[in-house]
Amino acid sequence: ATVRHYNFKVVMKNYTKLCSTKAIATVNGKFPGPTLHAREGDNVLVKVINNINYNVTIHWHGIRQLKTGWSDGPAYVAQCPIQPEQSYLYNFTIIGQRGTLFWHAHISWLRATLHGAIVILPKKGTPYPFPHPVKEKVIVLGEWWKADTEAVINQATQSGMPPNVSDSHIINGHTGPVRNCSISTQGTYTLHVEHNKTYLLRIINAAINDEVFFRIAGHKFTVVEVDASYTKPFTTDTIYIAPGQTTNALLKADQSPTGKYLIGMSSFMDAPVAVDNTTTYGLLRYKGGLANSRLVLTTMPPLNATQAQLNFTHALRSLNSRDYPAKVPLDIDHSLFFTMGVGVNPCPTCLNGSKLVGSINNVTFVMPTISLLQAHYYKIKGVFTDDFPGKPLTTFNYTTNFTGSLATVNGTKVYRLPFNATVQVVLQDTSLIAPESHPLHLHGFNFFVVGMGIGNYDDTKDPESFNLVDPVERNTIDVPTGGWTAIRFRADNPGVWFMHCHLEVHTSWGLKMAFLIENGDGPNESIVPPPKDLPKC
Ligand code: C2O
Repeated sequence: ATVRHYNFKVVMKNYTKLCSTKAIATVNGKFPGPTLHAREGDNVLVKVINNINYNVTIHWHGIRQLKTGWSDGPAYVAQCPIQPEQSYLYNFTIIGQRGTLFWHAHISWLRATLHGAIVILPKKGTPYPFPHPVKEKVIVLGEWWKADTEAVINQATQSGMPPNVSDSHIINGHTGPVRNCSISTQGTYTLHVEHNKTYLLRIINAAINDEVFFRIAGHKFTVVEVDASYTKPFTTDTIYIAPGQTTNALLKADQSPTGKYLIGMSSFMDAPVAVDNTTTYGLLRYKGGLANSRLVLTTMPPLNATQAQLNFTHALRSLNSRDYPAKVPLDIDHSLFFTMGVGVNPCPTCLNGSKLVGSINNVTFVMPTISLLQAHYYKIKGVFTDDFPGKPLTTFNYTTNFTGSLATVNGTKVYRLPFNATVQVVLQDTSLIAPESHPLHLHGFNFFVVGMGIGNYDDTKDPESFNLVDPVERNTIDVPTGGWTAIRFRADNPGVWFMHCHLEVHTSWGLKMAFLIENGDGPNESIVPPPKDLPKC
């Protein structure tokens, strides 16, 4: 296999958007950051050099990091941060994965601008299991604040209130046209296509807090892969994509080349929660089309289009072919039930004397000051406890009015699993404050989404409807508003692995936990020793 070397220099750079200029953290001065290209089986070495005044880490979102947890990236979970003027070499091999993933900073809110695509091609000579596209296009979706995003989250943390929502959505760094602005600003994202050719769109939601819909007027998508796992192809005019998710879709440029077609990106939010409800538009244009061609419009689904979210999510099935079988665990060793949502804890220094907190099983995760993985590997006592509850501390019933306390307990707790155990986690949205959809992300694993429903999970009958044949395999899945999602995975990756809501505001509030997977007894069943340049806290 090939060794791929990358240098990621983290530097501040001025960018002008929405008619205002600010300095943002970038990799190599680029926003969105550079695309990392590799093939399945390659060894990837990325030297990250921190030349900004913040601590930095980079996470390779969705890369399984088999036994190489030291290169996973989440600050204080997998590593201590890279301090200013320091560097760290991330070293991992891509095993059994091909498709689209992305990299992003994993500390505070720096991922708002520190992110970019990871494109993993199949091994040389291995074709895609779908018609070969003429060209591939990476589409990175994000959010833009005119304010400094570190200031946005810091202010929210101090007040205990929700952070300000973003000022615009962005498509590959473009906010769309800005009127009456005297400074030059990047305008509209344009996708250039040739008539009757097929393109592979690699769509990434790198937004901080917004689950979104994506459409191209007049055109349909055929989804073929999500989170670097092939799916049964299905055709849709709307892509739903949550932060942390990636979707590969074929696009046939089969409309009249005399038109230009609006591309739309807008939020999904079906809870009474403030959200950026701007729609950002781009354009699809045909080669040889007229300069003043007819504009074809698209209407975006409404903000609260729950059904559009669920339709898309329910249509996903793993390819489950001979070459790419779905290895769903059938016998479960650890059956867990996690409630998750937002609560309120006392906070004497906050605006209302209280602050919003996120929790899983009523535990608000407190970040340690040295990484969990180092504490585990070097057996450092007092950093975490392994008593994360397998079911909620407070029994919860979604369908009746909740009368208990909204308060949660603080703790740095992990759930310990033996090597190779099979695990089922039913994730239940508690809706204590707002019934809100949460894109839950698990590091170190892909999981199978065996079931999903609205209301309370009922363990006497819901398992009967589980799909154990071809459930979609991914690393980030929505727990729907006021509903539940059941996932299964095999704990075949020793180390400490973060699980959290990929809405960064909820992660900041503590909607996170970690699994500790023990080493196995056999050869190659242990985490590798830490690299020499592993940052110190
Ligand atoms: Cu992309 Cu821990 O996240």
